[in-house]
Amino acid sequence: MTVEKMAEYLYGLPEQFAVILQQGVNLPAKYQRSYHNIVVTGLGGSAIGGDILRTYAMQKAQVPVLVNRDYDIPEFVNGDSLVLAVSYSGNTEETLSSYQQAYQKGAAIIAVTGGGKLADMAQKDGCAVVKIPGGLSPRAATGYLFAPLALILEELGILQGAANDLEETVQVLRNVRDAIYPGIDSPVNQARQLAREIKGNIPVIWGSTVRTETVAMRWKTQINENAKSPAYFSIFPELNHNEIVGFEAPADLIARLVVIILRDPADHGQVKKRMEISKGIIKDKVKKIIEVEARGESFLAKFYSLVYVGDYASFYLALEYGINPTPVKTIDFLKAELAKGV
Ligand code: F6R
Repeated sequence: MTVEKMAEYLYGLPEQFAVILQQGVNLPAKYQRSYHNIVVTGLGGSAIGGDILRTYAMQKAQVPVLVNRDYDIPEFVNGDSLVLAVSYSGNTEETLSSYQQAYQKGAAIIAVTGGGKLADMAQKDGCAVVKIPGGLSPRAATGYLFAPLALILEELGILQGAANDLEETVQVLRNVRDAIYPGIDSPVNQARQLAREIKGNIPVIWGSTVRTETVAMRWKTQINENAKSPAYFSIFPELNHNEIVGFEAPADLIARLVVIILRDPADHGQVKKRMEISKGIIKDKVKKIIEVEARGESFLAKFYSLVYVGDYASFYLALEYGINPTPVKTIDFLKAELAKGV
């Protein structure tokens, strides 16, 4: 089983941010203007950077950022919109379709991609292309895919401090890596320990709105794609208005849930209180409750410190199940089936 590839990608995550920081985004002058809205269009591992940008910008920018995971671009997109078309392969059909619609609507477009049709189309159309290093699985290239988005907004004056926050992220991720890379055994290795506790059970990841909501989604998708197993996520305070009621039946299945709570010291005081009360409600019903604390100061460093633990936990879970974390045959199959007859 070739697990080395994913192991290598995971180990290299901090350096992805460092590479993009060094490379910069170098936008043509024509992009220096004001925008009414920003739309990140992409799917899967390429879209999640959009969600990070959305939640980052909610705390730092005056312009709304929206994420579009579809063939169609929202109706409001027009000449006052900035569209960031993100696809690692450059060949994802939904992204190519939404790119074309955005172009027809006269939006300013920047493509962030490893190459493929998206790079060709954008070059032909005179749109800026931020070329990122290729050759990884998209989900393993999260640093390459997200860092340019933050730097683009900083270069356009839409938000400040992105480069500093990314530099802190590199440092924090290197420290986290020292504690959870495969050279460290459990129980000291938090990610390996998490995988052991999840094994044989269903993980449910709880985050908080804006702060850790996208981390919770990332944990879920990484467990799905790396460990090829189910995982679910939900966010506070919304989950206190529905999901929390659903811990009564069937008791035998609920007893197989491992609830992982992602904690950021900057969570709203009432959200912290809700987390405590919710733990009390479910503690005798679920298999286990595990809390994971963010590290670092800036939103991005804290965000990625949690992402990194989840990425490694999903990798170790794959190993626990004897599954190769790298290939995603089901996604490849779906893409091939859809491409037939196009
Ligand atoms: C595979 C992965 C997928 C892809 C998605 C879109 O590792 O994470 O979710 O990211 O199928 O493909 P790209 O990113 O090439 O546009």
